[in-house]
Parts: sequence; structure tokens; C-alpha cells
Amino acid sequence: MEITCGTDIIEIDRIKKCIEPSNERFKERVYTEKEIKYCESRKNQKYQHYAARFAGKEAVFKALSKYIYKKFEISWKDAEIINDETGRPEVIINHDISAKVKKIDISISHCKEYAIANVVIVWNL
Ligand SMILES: CC(C)(COP(=O)(O)OP(=O)(O)OC[C@H]1O[C@@H](n2cnc3c(N)ncnc32)[C@H](O)[C@@H]1OP(=O)(O)O)[C@@H](O)C(=O)NCCC(=O)NCCS
Repeated sequence: MEITCGTDIIEIDRIKKCIEPSNERFKERVYTEKEIKYCESRKNQKYQHYAARFAGKEAVFKALSKYIYKKFEISWKDAEIINDETGRPEVIINHDISAKVKKIDISISHCKEYAIANVVIVWNL
């Protein structure tokens, strides 16, 4: 059984500057409709949630990087982070590589300045 992991940390202000004042292009390039809906529903703290998803996607790419060698082979929206009814985050991989992924799990945390995400993949090789 093969396991890989990925981690990423980001300054929330960096993501805020990419999105504000109304950078729809950045949002649409990076986030899926469901992710935007979730973050926007968080109102005042929405940038923490946007940043957490950005860190989450980077962490997914790091965990996948043993089998996806070049970044342009996968796009931001190919890794979607949604929350179940308890708030627990889950990753959906919208890419052919998902056939080789047996299980993927993510954990997210954020405070005022930083967001962090860890991802573990169990491979089905
Ligand atoms: C879930 C919980 C631990 C989050 O901790 P927190 O210190 O408030 O916030 P953090 O910044 O560290 O983490 C926030 C992230 O936790 C994740 N999260 C939320 N609920 C979760 C859950 N049930 N299980 C795992 N992760 C969860 C989310 O990804 C969230 O970020 P997002 O909304 O941007 O997706 C907290 O809300 C809590 O204690 N809830 C009640 C008890 C509980 O449900 N515990 C989990 C089962 S043991």
C-alpha cells in the first residue's frame, strides 16, 4: 500500500489581495461554484475560507506530485474541497488520476493571518 502526503500554509492577506476588490477572474480560475458559494456564505471571514481552500488545493497537488509530474497537467478546479453536514472537509478530484486514488483525506485550519491544510492519499496502484 502506498501513501503520500502534502501540506501547505498561506497568508490570508495574499488571497484577499488576489480577490479584492472584485477579481472574478481569479475566483473563477481557482475555485468551483460550490467552493465560492461556501466561502461567500461566511461573510466577514470569507477570506480565511478562500485561503484555506487555496492551501488545500496546493496540499492536494503536493500529495499527487509523485504521479503528476508537471503542474500544468492539473488545474485548480480539478481539486475541489467541500464540507459535509458536520463541517468536515472532503476532497473531490475531477481528473483522470482519481482512478488511481483509493482514499484522500484533508484537514484544514485557519486563524486571522494564516490558513493551513494537510492531505493524505492512499494509492490504488
Ligand atoms: C471542528 C472544529 C474542531 C474546528 O476547529 P476550530 O478551531 O473552530 O477551527 P479551525 O480553523 O482549526 O478549523 C476550521 C476548519 O475545520 C474543518 N472542520 C469543520 N468541522 C469539522 C469536523 N467535524 N471534522 C473535521 N474538520 C472539521 C473545516 O475544514 C474548517 O474550515 P472550513 O470551514 O474553511 O472548511 C470545531 O468546530 C469543533 O470543535 N467543533 C465541535 C466538535 C466537533 O465537531 N469535533 C469534530 C469531531 S471530533
